[in-house]
Amino acid sequence: NPDTVFTGKKFLITAGPTQEAIDPVRYISNHSSGRMGISLAERAAEKGAKVTLVLGPTALKPKPHPNIETISVVTALEMFNATKTHHTESQVVIFCAAVADYRSEKPSDQKIKKKENALNISLIKNPDIAKTLGENKKQGQVHVGFALETDEGLGSAERKLNEKNFDFVVLNSLLDPEAGFQKNTNQVTILSKGKKKIKTPVLTKDKLATQILDRIASILENQKYN
Ligand code: PMT
Repeated sequence: NPDTVFTGKKFLITAGPTQEAIDPVRYISNHSSGRMGISLAERAAEKGAKVTLVLGPTALKPKPHPNIETISVVTALEMFNATKTHHTESQVVIFCAAVADYRSEKPSDQKIKKKENALNISLIKNPDIAKTLGENKKQGQVHVGFALETDEGLGSAERKLNEKNFDFVVLNSLLDPEAGFQKNTNQVTILSKGKKKIKTPVLTKDKLATQILDRIASILENQKYN
């Protein structure tokens, strides 16, 4: 029954950006507001799921709900640790965060003084949270990813679907004016292994969250018969 399939199920959702310090004053980050991931957390909680929301630094917070526990983090490494800790116990994991792929190799303790000419900052790679946990996906666990692209993005999204071992990936492209960061709306293409891709119309992030959850519900329902 789609109305009870989430009751008591543990969800783990990453959302928002991460911030990587350059010095005590400056950081590397991106435009994620957390809205998409927060919508997913709120709608899943309303449907009875027990949600752990690992949330990067955002102005937005979920509406308080007894089924939502929010863990606030700043950096990708913090997000990675919090997500790892809750991974095994979770049946559904949604990777909605816009994780900074790089961090400063050696953040300065002091504000970096303005130089005569160019300033070079050495960046090193952050762990890929979705990929690492995808390699440790448990039997019956459902992993859902996002892909944010600036072109049509179908090829990249398909590669992410496979490399990160997602059950399905939600592609949003900044080519679509109502899609992506900050806005109340999104427009996405959903890609699943071996299934036809579907492009949604422009939807509110709340409505899209419900559609994503319906898709997860049908995966969970199907598991019962396998
Ligand atoms: O927060 P909003 O303002 O509402 O905006 C929503 C959103 C645009 C942030 C969201 O819809 C979205 O697309 N989130 C994923 C953004 C992203 O970083 O995509 P990506 O293509 O770089 O990453 C692919 C997948 O790997 C994502 O599931 C991402 O969470 C995950 N990832 C990426 C890098 C990394 N180091 N660790 C990860 O887990």
